[in-house]
Amino acid sequence: MSTYSTTDQDSSWESTSTPIGPRARHTTSSSTTTRGPIDARARTTLGVMFVSSAARGAASRGARRAVATPGARGKSVAVGAPAPTRATVMRATTRAVARGASAIARASARPTFVTTPIYYVNDQPHIGHVYTSTVADAYARYRRARGEDVFFLTGTDEHGLKVEQSADKRGIEPRALADENSKKFRDVMTTYDISFDDFIRTTDAHHERQVQAFVKLLQERDAVYLGRFEGWYDEGQEEYYTESKAKELDYKSPISGKDMVRSSEENYYFRLSKFQKELEALHADNPEFLTPSARRNEMMGRLSEGLNDVPISRTNFKWGIQMPDDEKHVIYVWIDALMNYITAIGIGDGKDSALYTDRSKYWPASMHIMAKEISWFHSVIWPALLMALDLPLPQRVHAHAFWIREGRKMSKSLGNFVDLACMDRFKEHYGLDAMRYYLAVEGPIGAQDANFSTDRVQEVYSSDLVNTLGNSVSRTTAMINKYFGGEVQSEEKDGERVTFDNWDWPARTTAQVEDAMAAYDKLDLPRAAAAAKNIVMDVDLFITETEPFRMAKDETKRAELEACLYQCLEALRIAAVLLEPLMPNKMAEFDAGVGLGEGSLEERIRWGGLKAGTKVTKLALFPRVEGLDENGEAVKA
Ligand code: MSP
Repeated sequence: MSTYSTTDQDSSWESTSTPIGPRARHTTSSSTTTRGPIDARARTTLGVMFVSSAARGAASRGARRAVATPGARGKSVAVGAPAPTRATVMRATTRAVARGASAIARASARPTFVTTPIYYVNDQPHIGHVYTSTVADAYARYRRARGEDVFFLTGTDEHGLKVEQSADKRGIEPRALADENSKKFRDVMTTYDISFDDFIRTTDAHHERQVQAFVKLLQERDAVYLGRFEGWYDEGQEEYYTESKAKELDYKSPISGKDMVRSSEENYYFRLSKFQKELEALHADNPEFLTPSARRNEMMGRLSEGLNDVPISRTNFKWGIQMPDDEKHVIYVWIDALMNYITAIGIGDGKDSALYTDRSKYWPASMHIMAKEISWFHSVIWPALLMALDLPLPQRVHAHAFWIREGRKMSKSLGNFVDLACMDRFKEHYGLDAMRYYLAVEGPIGAQDANFSTDRVQEVYSSDLVNTLGNSVSRTTAMINKYFGGEVQSEEKDGERVTFDNWDWPARTTAQVEDAMAAYDKLDLPRAAAAAKNIVMDVDLFITETEPFRMAKDETKRAELEACLYQCLEALRIAAVLLEPLMPNKMAEFDAGVGLGEGSLEERIRWGGLKAGTKVTKLALFPRVEGLDENGEAVKA
């Protein structure tokens, strides 16, 4: 049976002296090969010891220990509550919480490495780039909040014919064009609060140097060879056709109609075909390696058609990284680009380099995030390159679907991109966090494309943010200000929690917290947001049922009023902690006005984190605003 396990978490490599850790075990139907150490020459080439160690598949998230969060303190006591709720005794809240919390996983001890694609500098930034980066950012923030050591990488892909041509047209050097456009992407990431730890450019000297070293190593290991491609060439389009395709086109260019010419070209090839079985096994045995499953099925289908070796060099332009010792060839832009994930952390720079020392611990990547059109490169070509280099495979590749508009793909020819100017207008109007929230809850995180719709922006903003979260926070903080001079009171009376019929808050919040965390772990941002929203909606219902404004009129109900408002605000605080990765700025306002609590996310989501005596400001998080038109302009009356 073919196996390529990513589930046998082996943490032993973390404590070995092996700089990169164990490599993947490639087990195929006929043989099991643990890739051996590379030869001494190859080692010195990179200055890195790629030593074979304990066999281990692509790392999995591994078995996590379940940990129960301690629940509310003390016993509960029965109190009378105003109609319609009959207050009653609730005992042993702790037990319920422990039960509910049992599935909350402890943060992993391994560092977390999250990446976005590196974006082409010949494109202008648009909603798609902002979206992928926002998803990756929310994930990185979530993992940081859990106390993990996170490295979040983004950047720009700057080589290739198109960049050379665009620069030519403008009469400038490719490097000047790359500088200009790379800066645009970097600025967008900063404006949209993408908390990247490094912004790599494929023109960075340390990247170029390492790519060359990796390609040299591939050559030395005979994973790359010089070959010759023969085919029919369309001179106008600079494109090769296979015999069958050329025949189908009657040996004429489909664009110019001119005759194709028989031609051949020398190229360096990567032996992709050699990894056929291992790649098949990787996908067959590890359903979580590539998500969503629609993408996995698609890749497995393509793999079953058989793999050919792929050319990895070009001779028809100069703007790229030169092939080692062959100045006629530049390295194909995809090979150059994919390697950013390991050059940014110095894997090819050798043990003595500062980059390597600081960052090599982040490999293998925990999560490569991108859209579906580049899943082949990330889930087939990239693992094959890593196998050839004897490096561990990433834990997960997530390829989401596309933002589309009015049911149609966004494209240059249709001119229907939600471009940066449009995005910026929405951001100015609704606020950055509101747009981040919209992208997260309505975006194409799974296999379904998502329509960008200004009506939905307005609906989501009004219903989730203004009427639900904003309203609940403002009501609760306003009541605490009105009844207690802005000071949170205790939910306890005589050392016991005051509770209300059917309102086991610690258990309720714990259930939603678990759901949200499981969702974040899976990158299911809409579900994570929904879990937080459920808590907020519960607070609204609780207020409706318990009627604190009525309690306020009755001096004998003082303790209940204190507990009721404590519980409202404590539940909202927990919801805010869950929403922080999506809306860091708004939740910072919450933190300033109320306090999000101390410590890691696991600590902050525990019931009871809000301390009696805390001073609370009346908060108005989301102002009511009018909708915009499809271009993000004010609607004319
Ligand atoms: N340079 C390559 C990636 C190399 S990674 C080693 C590239 N760049 S790109 O500028 O075209 O960016 C593609 C990525 O932008 C997509 O994979 C996705 O992350 C994002 N999006 C571009 N258009 C998109 C949509 N319409 N919808 C959602 N995201 C999309 O490919």
